[in-house]
Amino acid sequence: MARRTFIAGNWKMNLGPQAADRLAMDLKAALAGQTAVDVAVAPVAVSIPGVVARLKHTGIHVAGQDLAVEASGAFTGEVAGEMLREAGCTWVIVGHSERRSLFGEDDALINRKVHAAFRAGLLPILCVGETLAQRDAGQVEQVLERQLSAGLAGLQADQLAAMTLAYEPVWAIGTGRTATPDQAQEAHAFIRGWLRKTAPAFVADQLRIQYGGSVKPANAASLLRQPDVDGALVGGASLKAADFVKIIEAAPHMAA
Ligand code: 13P
Repeated sequence: MARRTFIAGNWKMNLGPQAADRLAMDLKAALAGQTAVDVAVAPVAVSIPGVVARLKHTGIHVAGQDLAVEASGAFTGEVAGEMLREAGCTWVIVGHSERRSLFGEDDALINRKVHAAFRAGLLPILCVGETLAQRDAGQVEQVLERQLSAGLAGLQADQLAAMTLAYEPVWAIGTGRTATPDQAQEAHAFIRGWLRKTAPAFVADQLRIQYGGSVKPANAASLLRQPDVDGALVGGASLKAADFVKIIEAAPHMAA
């Protein structure tokens, strides 16, 4: 079954309201009329309202980079999924490797955040991926299986089918060292195979798996051509409109 390509830009802790608005304006101009690929951008929380306003009616989705487990209350510094939804987000990144390694998020917390996203009416992009030490130790499948089974615990099949997974090998993030198309395909096929074993068939057919880790205009086409690579979660290259647009244009059905 054909899955629509989904390219998302994770702006990380870059671009305050003014710079974010300039990038959104450039994307709006460059992607006008583009309907072949699903596109989302994830600004820092304070830049979300402006980007939502700028991208209104463009079809470009806006995502949060993280969300709190709770809907409101005494949780200083947190942003609830309900608030992201109210601000106009439709997606939210959950369990990014930077949240896991720098902020101590574990699979149990990440699972609660995935559920919180659905409760708030947001679709999660759940990030999984191994470190270099884990890859060198031959533990890629073991790590992915743990992150998937814990991170997705308790979800309904229709929720799984609608959400997105991002395979982001930690050693490829921000390093300029991209997984080869074969390495990406191998991990994505493992993830899809795991879904096929653990959920009704339509889940594995429909759930989109993005690749993330040093995706650039020069390597996007070869990655996106892999049968189980359904899109990309782009960090650094999503901060420049021209590069992000080139990555979107590298999607197989755009290049046709
Ligand atoms: P880079 O594209 O900068 O390697 O970042 C990838 C990433 O972490 C996206 O979430």
